[in-house]
Amino acid sequence: MEYKELYKLAEGMLEKAYAPYSKFQVGAALLTKEGEVFTGVNVENASYGATICAERTAFVKAISEGHRDFTAIAIASSGGEAYPCGICRQFMFEFSDDLDIITSKDGENLNITNIKDLLLHGFRL
Ligand code: THU
Repeated sequence: MEYKELYKLAEGMLEKAYAPYSKFQVGAALLTKEGEVFTGVNVENASYGATICAERTAFVKAISEGHRDFTAIAIASSGGEAYPCGICRQFMFEFSDDLDIITSKDGENLNITNIKDLLLHGFRL
């Protein structure tokens, strides 16, 4: 799948985000090595710390369906370009040390980085 298409799937998820507190909607689309896509949104909670980010929602959906190998994740937000938070970087690193991270400032031109560059010395037991 083209990364542009993956990004558009992430963007299409924004309306499903549950973000009544921050009003900052995030959508993610995670591509498996087999070419399957799992989407996710941020799901906030009145107890703010219980909030789950869009990236982790997508990962949890994929992993709980038996997928373990991923090539890329696209992230879109209602507030412009958004890179994954620190918790999500470590969470994603657990499953891939070579994951492309696709973001965009304008929804047209993609910025492609890699978890290798976003998380230095990620933690492993
Ligand atoms: N958020 C994500 O979904 N992904 C990130 O990588 C950064 C933050 C969400 C969490 C919260 O619902 C909202 O954005 C504002 O922090």
